[in-house]
Amino acid sequence: MRTVKFGIIGCGLMGREFASAAARWCHLPDMDVRPEIVAVCDKNAELLKWYSGNFASITQVTDDYQEVLANADVEAVYIAVPHNLHEEMFCAAIRAGKHLLGEKPFGIDKPANDAIMACIAEHPDQLVRCSSEFPFVPAMQRIGDMIDAKAFGTILEVNSGFLHSSDLDPNKTINWKRMKKFNGEYGCMGDLGMHPCHMPFRAGWYPKNVRAILSNIITERPDGKGGMAACETWDNATLFCEAEDADSGSVFPLTIKTQRIAPGQKDTWCFEVLGTKACARYSSKNTNSIEILQYSGGEQAWQVIDMGHEVTFKSITGGIFEFGFSDSILQMWAAFLTELAHGKTPKRFAGCVLPEETAYSHRLFTAALESHAKQSTVAI
Ligand SMILES: NC(=O)c1ccc[n+]([C@@H]2O[C@H](COP(=O)([O-])OP(=O)(O)OC[C@H]3O[C@@H](n4cnc5c(N)ncnc54)[C@H](O)[C@@H]3O)[C@@H](O)[C@H]2O)c1
Repeated sequence: MRTVKFGIIGCGLMGREFASAAARWCHLPDMDVRPEIVAVCDKNAELLKWYSGNFASITQVTDDYQEVLANADVEAVYIAVPHNLHEEMFCAAIRAGKHLLGEKPFGIDKPANDAIMACIAEHPDQLVRCSSEFPFVPAMQRIGDMIDAKAFGTILEVNSGFLHSSDLDPNKTINWKRMKKFNGEYGCMGDLGMHPCHMPFRAGWYPKNVRAILSNIITERPDGKGGMAACETWDNATLFCEAEDADSGSVFPLTIKTQRIAPGQKDTWCFEVLGTKACARYSSKNTNSIEILQYSGGEQAWQVIDMGHEVTFKSITGGIFEFGFSDSILQMWAAFLTELAHGKTPKRFAGCVLPEETAYSHRLFTAALESHAKQSTVAI
């Protein structure tokens, strides 16, 4: 078993998810490589106590990320910090010779992403990937298999979305995700957009153009100090795109929705592919199910299939049991570690987001801002 020693920079919500996944690595009996958390870094010392209390392997606790990068024991880093820090920290990590799984959107804006891409180009021997766990859900893996098998025929339409209601409450106190300074001009697209882009991009369905409609619904929020603060970020974005499928040659509508104010949705990932030979759809609201329609003449009928725990990286969980968010995080980390140890993942759709895919997402979101401002379609 190869051990990869990790530092975590940014120990908030997502840092803890990775640490917890590393702690239950024994869940994946076929893995021949495992992560070990040896260093943690955050400006908030309170958060670090949870790590020190739960991980005997940690030998470095610091509030200075440069110290983690200078630690020769650390082979790879996971960086999960606000978007305004991605460029500085990702580039520093790559220059320090560390393998990197960085959080989306991989730079606060396109210039930041361009700088990260330039840094990656100068260090081709290190593995650099972006986090997005959506495709690792069993139903999404099944859809990926169908795309690989060209089962859909001519692609007619693809709809991909990430719908939250986390900002529906106007009395929710503002946090960094609602401030341009930390979250960027993209607003909800930067925050949520990589998830609904991951599958279409991996399928080769890159938008050729976009007509975007962006909404800033709640313009101020409590600042947590008794006053109100301007809430300047886009809450909801709907991107109407035209994409091309190289296999069938079809040009089709691709809709990508990212919404933080979507009534009735808590944290819904949804994906739908409509083709002439087959259609498939998945929503995390019914995470155990996939709906498939196969058409070869005659009646059309949707089947609903319970997926259970049909995962790419073998798990000790019984095949009939449901799959959840923390399972998708574990599968994503298995993909990253497998690629680090063996140079590839077992399937096209079982890989973390490639840097080139983040670059395309930045082209899309930048074009979406222009499209909304001009109220017109923008070529990408
Ligand atoms: N993959 C996913 O499903 C998913 C979900 C949520 C967030 N994210 C992404 O993860 C990243 C972090 O988001 P989060 O929800 O974990 O946020 P968070 O606020 O919970 O955590 C961020 C942490 O970074 C720390 N930090 C800030 N400045 C720092 C510095 N200079 N040095 C060290 N630590 C610093 C903060 O103290 C905080 O603990 C973002 O890029 C976000 O887009 C991904």
